[in-house]
Formats: sequence, C-alpha cells, structure tokens
Amino acid sequence: MKLAMDIGEVPMGRLMWRAEAPAKAILFGEHAVLYGAPAIAIAIDIRASVSIEDSEVWLLNGEEFDPLVNPHLTHLISEFSTFENPLSVSIDSAIPIAAGLGSSAALSVASGMVLSASKNSDLPASTETLARAAHRAEARAQGGRASPTDTSVSSLGGAVIVSSSRISSLEHHWAIDMDGPDGTNHWDVHSLPIPPSLISVPLVIGFTGIPSSTREMVESVAQKMESSSFRISMDEVSKLSIESIDLLSKGDPQLIGDAMTRCHSLLQKIGVSSPELDNLIEAVLPFSYGAKLTGAGGGGCIIALSNDPEACANAIRETGGTPYVTSFADKGVRITDVKS
Ligand code: PMV
Repeated sequence: MKLAMDIGEVPMGRLMWRAEAPAKAILFGEHAVLYGAPAIAIAIDIRASVSIEDSEVWLLNGEEFDPLVNPHLTHLISEFSTFENPLSVSIDSAIPIAAGLGSSAALSVASGMVLSASKNSDLPASTETLARAAHRAEARAQGGRASPTDTSVSSLGGAVIVSSSRISSLEHHWAIDMDGPDGTNHWDVHSLPIPPSLISVPLVIGFTGIPSSTREMVESVAQKMESSSFRISMDEVSKLSIESIDLLSKGDPQLIGDAMTRCHSLLQKIGVSSPELDNLIEAVLPFSYGAKLTGAGGGGCIIALSNDPEACANAIRETGGTPYVTSFADKGVRITDVKS
C-alpha cells in the first residue's frame, strides 16, 4: 500500500489521519449477484472522507459516539482498533445516504483505513483486508445478504466484477466465502479495465430523494425467490449481466446504454423499481445512451450514460430529483492526510 504522503517524515505528536473512498454505481447484476450472477460496478467521483484524532472519549463529528446508532463504524473499530483507546472520528461525505451509491461501504473502507493506520502508526491495512472487513460490516447490517460488490469497488476503484467463479481473462484480486440465510455464497473479485472510449463518457446520477433500505430490498427479493416464475425473471437479469461483461470490454457507449435500459426493464419486472425511479429514467432517456436504477432500488438513484449531461441534469431536476454529473473514478480508498 502506497501512502499519499511520506509518513516517515511526519513529526511525532498527536496524529491525525484522513482517508477517502469513492461511491459506486452498479451497472449490471444488482440483486442477481446474491444468487450466482456477476455484478459489474464502477467507482464514481463522489467521495466520503473519514479522519481521526486522539481524544479523551469516543466522538463522532464532535458528538458522543453511540455504537448502536453506528453499526458499521462500531464493527470497523472492533476489527482494527480497540474501544479502550478513544478517538475523535469525523466524517465528511458527499455521497447521499441510503441512495444505492454505496455510502456505507465507502465510509467503512475509509474508516478501516484510518483506524488500522492509527493502530499500527505505520502502514494501514491492505485494500483486501479493508474490503473484507467492510464486507463483514455490510453483511451484518443487511441480515447476512450482502455481496462484496460495494466494498470491493470502493477499496479498489475503477471497475470491478464480482462473480461466483473466477474469470480467467480478468485480473483476480481475492475470493470470499460467506454463509448467509440462503446458504453459502462464493464470490471472486476482479478488476475490469475500462476502455478509453468509456472513461470520457459523463455519468449522470439522479437521486429520487427517497431513501431505500438495502436490507429490506434484499429480504423482499429473497422471499419472492421461492416462486419459480420470479426465478425465471431473475435468470434474465443474470443472463444480461453475463453478456454485459463482453459489452463493457468493447467499450461502445451506445451498446452499453441499450443494455442498461434493458436491465432497468428487467429490474422493474423483479419489482425493485418504483414510480419515482421510472419517471427519472423516462426523463433522461432522450439525452442518454441508456439508463437504469442502480443499487438495491425501491428508492435511491438512477444512473445514465449520457452524451448531454447538462440536459440530463435539467431533466432530473424538472422531474423532482437531484442530479450529480460525475465520472468514472480510477482510485479506490487512500490516505489523504497524515498530520501531527
Ligand atoms: O443499494 P446498495 O448500494 O446497498 O447496493 C445493493 C446491491 C445489492 O445487490 C442489492 C445487494 C448486494 O449486497 O450486492
């Protein structure tokens, strides 16, 4: 792990560490990734940062820290630090909460990085260790139904494919086995190089303003998986997600956009869209290569690949949503400050 600053030159004293991590958007395979399909996710240029200082008592943003209200941070403290050494933790995040953009994953990996760095006063934990620990925090919060998609992409940056078996043509990072309420899941985490033709295409996020609980969404899908007709629809989401790996490597924005719009229709079919998400999709499609909901759905955000981001953003505003014009982020979690 390379630090953004040479920590060897930091004078001794009261250490303050700051790390930041990117949000993510799932392009294909949300929900289906919990049932054997690959998920393809990209890091996006909206970030969360977490900093820590020595303190007499545990503080979060200057207020008393309540472990029950902050289960992700509590989990990361238990993995990387000790409750006996209090710290003042400050969070500064541009990622909307409960919006399908992986805010809790970004905060978890950034927290893990500063906590592990402060404990070792040397090097922070590796991206793999951070991603694994943050995934355990997510799994707890989501009742055991959590893929490592958000936490892997927030750790690694770039584009990530999480699949149930290794894909030999891709760079493989690590494998995870996790027991959940529906049995044991196996996931392999890979990076996918983003073709230059795609890197420059603006991404427009539209937030409905309606928060969504990933835990409730994955539970409702799990209940419906008992029906064979529902499983047929889920198979279609999975099939498209497999096909999209090839499409992404070709890098044609129109083909990818078409597949995203098709994916949205399939996600509607499995009942994870909402009228507000559908309205945003309808509003942005005239200005986009394609668009879909991203993340657990039910509320949260859409993502559009657009050739006219301003028109897209206006259409989102006029439909009552909040636009974020952003781009692919190649960097994952990293230390941004070490001060005395
Ligand atoms: O809405 P988010 O950012 O929590 O993404 C959830 C993605 C799911 O596939 C629905 C769940 C998961 O853990 O992969």
